[in-house]
Amino acid sequence: MFSSTTYRGVNTGLLIFLILTGTTLECGPGRGAGRRKRPGKLIPLVFKQHVPNVSENTLGASGVAEGRITRNDPKFKQLVRNENPHIIFKDEEGNGSDRIMSKRCKDKLNTLAVRVMNTWPGVKLLVTEAWDEEGHHAKDSLHYEGRAVDITTSDRDRTKYGMLSRLAVEAGFDWVYYESRGHIHCSVKSESSAAIKIGGCFSGTGSVTTETEGQIPISELKVGQKVLSMTNEGKLDFSEVISFLDRDEMRHGVFYKLVTVERTITLTEKHLIYTSNINNSAIDSYKAIYADRVQIGQYVLIAEHLALKPSKIIDIRIIKQKGVFAPLTTQGTIIVDGVAASCYAVVNSINIAHSVFAPVRALHSLSKYISVLSWTFSDTSPTNGVHWYADLLYNIGTLLLNKDMLYVA
Ligand SMILES: *[C@@H]1O[C@H](CO)[C@@H](O)[C@H](O)[C@H]1NC(C)=O
Ligand SMILES: *[C@@H]1O[C@H](CO)[C@@H](O)[C@H](O)[C@H]1NC(C)=O
Ligand SMILES: *[C@@H]1O[C@H](CO)[C@@H](O)[C@H](O)[C@H]1NC(C)=O
Repeated sequence: MFSSTTYRGVNTGLLIFLILTGTTLECGPGRGAGRRKRPGKLIPLVFKQHVPNVSENTLGASGVAEGRITRNDPKFKQLVRNENPHIIFKDEEGNGSDRIMSKRCKDKLNTLAVRVMNTWPGVKLLVTEAWDEEGHHAKDSLHYEGRAVDITTSDRDRTKYGMLSRLAVEAGFDWVYYESRGHIHCSVKSESSAAIKIGGCFSGTGSVTTETEGQIPISELKVGQKVLSMTNEGKLDFSEVISFLDRDEMRHGVFYKLVTVERTITLTEKHLIYTSNINNSAIDSYKAIYADRVQIGQYVLIAEHLALKPSKIIDIRIIKQKGVFAPLTTQGTIIVDGVAASCYAVVNSINIAHSVFAPVRALHSLSKYISVLSWTFSDTSPTNGVHWYADLLYNIGTLLLNKDMLYVA
């Protein structure tokens, strides 16, 4: 049993932690160019600076160490070899262990290699250390998990290292540290971490209906606006946007495009959408399931003439698109492209997700009266990245689901 008091204890602790660390996470499987990019305005890191400005093993950065991976470990199979010819591997060990890394680490490194060549023609990215099987690093080093690399440039020109660090941030490493005069340390989140799995967004092409402006692209939706959503009873109603769990106009995402007879909705694989196996509009027969579980022949609810009606799915496509958006409404649902969807992802139960988000909604109401809180919830020019609360949701959600605990709302 998971009593509500314990829950609140955990919650408050995490809440404060998350506010302090200023977590910015990603939605989707963490592809694409990564963190913030404003071409032409790259500021080099200074010696001993790290980005983000939190310690490496916090949620806002690469997360906690999950345990050493040795060659005989089953987890070793999840690591990959980086054979990129545009990267030089120092290979001190002489058996290629510097080429071994996690999939995410490899992706970011390959992105960085291109940026290095574009920034300094003729210069390549040099990896001095990656996966470590010999215990050369500190106890909880992410090198043991293939999640960290130490890098320099092939010309070993120290005047480049500040900018190299910045390029690594741009390439999407989750933590970059101008650690020593000799190298830059970069690390990534684990493949199983919440931030990687969170994956619940709508594509930038989606449209929503607001109370005041009618139909607008989801990319123009702002916190505070009222948007068409679905009530618990399966009716249409306007609900206030209280936050964006994630928002990034530039990031590319892989989306499921669900085509019904009348409508098409585009959302990430782990986003929840209401579906039924039978052709009716009784809300009880609709279950929220992951977009990647939806099958042709099932029904979704679409908005038509101020009511919701079933519409049959006739095609499903997987596409890549630019822009990821995850608005959170007080109702917890949203009508996107005329189709009823949840605002939530990952936790496979709307009720749990909605309960867990209750504090955000409560704080949001409070924030109208308490100015100290309002910075968190009233960002009319929302910043990019997953809302810190989404990670909390995921952690509590998985805790509840895994441990089969009952959440008392
Ligand atoms: C990083 O955080 C520390 C303490 O929180 C602060 O003193 C420092 O100025 C910050 N550095 C940057 C570059 O923001
Ligand atoms: C790779 O080389 C290092 C250093 O020589 C050694 O300790 C390690 O056991 C080697 N690994 C394998 C699998 O040969
Ligand atoms: C679903 O039911 C409605 C109303 O009974 C009917 O008009 C519609 O043709 C049905 N749709 C399908 C795909 O069977």
